[in-house]
Amino acid sequence: MDVTYPPERTFTTRSGQAMRLRPIRPEDVPNLFAFHERLSRESLRMRYFTPRRRLTEDVARHLCTVDFRDRAAFVASPLESDAIHGIGRYERDAPHSAEVAFIVEDALQGNGIGPALLQRLAEHARAQGIERFTAAVLYENTAMLSVFRNSPFRPQISVEHDCAFVKLDLTVLPEPAAQRPAGRGLAAARLRSLQAPA
Ligand SMILES: CC(C)(COP(=O)(O)OP(=O)(O)OC[C@H]1O[C@@H](n2cnc3c(N)ncnc32)[C@H](O)[C@@H]1OP(=O)(O)O)[C@@H](O)C(=O)NCCC(=O)NCCS
Repeated sequence: MDVTYPPERTFTTRSGQAMRLRPIRPEDVPNLFAFHERLSRESLRMRYFTPRRRLTEDVARHLCTVDFRDRAAFVASPLESDAIHGIGRYERDAPHSAEVAFIVEDALQGNGIGPALLQRLAEHARAQGIERFTAAVLYENTAMLSVFRNSPFRPQISVEHDCAFVKLDLTVLPEPAAQRPAGRGLAAARLRSLQAPA
């Protein structure tokens, strides 16, 4: 697969730890297995709606091999290793829309990693022509709903039985350079690089 990997960024968690947000790669399969092993049944239930989800080699390879156009995933890793502490991913389900999902290692939840992954994923998706994120979340999942509610993406949340359906508007982000009239792209790219986290 011919993939252009997006750049890595760093950010600081609420507890002051510097972390990298990096694109997932096929070589991450062992890191993904190790991450999966550390997840609690409760986190798995919140993410997959079932507490037991066996990760097979095939599924792990599929999750780590994305094209960064229609499927993208960023992982949170420490500065000193490629260990995975959190993952945010999208899968395009319509020309301008994609479904998103997140999971953060239990010991690091509540540190702002989820919002950082959402922001990074949204910026990348916008540049791929995606204008809307959708998500299906258990209504009891107050942590995930809080991340969406506190995001700048004008969240719309509707509830059916025990599930919340979320829509996020990515057009609040700057228009992608490729779709601008000629001449505006460079100035906007300079502005974006000044605004980007270190
Ligand atoms: C949902 C999730 C991705 C949020 O990521 P995060 O890095 O923890 O996000 P934040 O640090 O911004 O925390 C969000 C809110 O939830 C609270 N929170 C996070 N983890 C919590 C926990 N384990 N128990 C109680 N509250 C928690 C935080 O205090 C914060 O509350 P606030 O908005 O009132 O300040 C993460 O908690 C997670 O992986 N949960 C399990 C998997 C899951 O639910 N995935 C979503 C399916 S789409």
